[in-house]
Amino acid sequence: MNSTMNGNNFGQISNVGKSTNILWHDCPIQKHDRQQLLQQKGCVIWLTGLSGSGKSTIACALSRSLHSRGKLTYILDGDNIRHGLNRDLSFRAEDRSENMRRIGEVAKLFADAGVICIVSLISPYQKDRDACRALLPEGDFVEVFIDVPLQVCEARDPKGLYKLARAGTIKGFTGVDDPYEPPCNCEIILQHKGSDCMSPSDMAEIVISYLEEKGHLRA
Ligand code: ADX
Repeated sequence: MNSTMNGNNFGQISNVGKSTNILWHDCPIQKHDRQQLLQQKGCVIWLTGLSGSGKSTIACALSRSLHSRGKLTYILDGDNIRHGLNRDLSFRAEDRSENMRRIGEVAKLFADAGVICIVSLISPYQKDRDACRALLPEGDFVEVFIDVPLQVCEARDPKGLYKLARAGTIKGFTGVDDPYEPPCNCEIILQHKGSDCMSPSDMAEIVISYLEEKGHLRA
């Protein structure tokens, strides 16, 4: 339905999903203005990988290092968001998809606010990561694969969950009896190589170099 159809003068009235007769409202202060204020470009750094691959630790290292350079970041961490906004979601496939969709939408808002939004989420399905990428302007979604083999994550087992999954106490655990689809079109791969692997802060610096090169660290 549009303004002509319903006879008002208020612009484009739309139906979106189950929301009927809604109207987008713009504000004269836009993303560009906020970016000028912050002297950075809003974007989403999407860290994907198995549980125990180090996503949350790398997210923190990244946030700390960018903060020390005067850049505003915010972390959306899967475990943390499941304590609030997504507490109604389980780990079955449809709920993992919905988890990604909601976090993708929230990340988009943070990026629009001018913030460098760091998402730390197993996000096992390529199709859902692609859908989140499609929410953002070209170049503003940076997919980072934390490529750590299952055996390494399992040996680390920081929360003891792999042990429970192997014992059958937790069903449908990613990498054990639930799928993980590695990215096929990501911007950055942070790989675990042998015993002398990089530290989380070294990995964060790789991401920061990328952001610098792509102009995200200036307005
Ligand atoms: S996602 O698959 O939906 O993207 P998310 O990142 O939000 O997962 O949450 C993953 C965290 O939930 C894991 O790090 C782990 O602590 C916990 N968890 C509990 N059950 C599962 C499960 N069945 N599979 C994976 N992680 C689980």
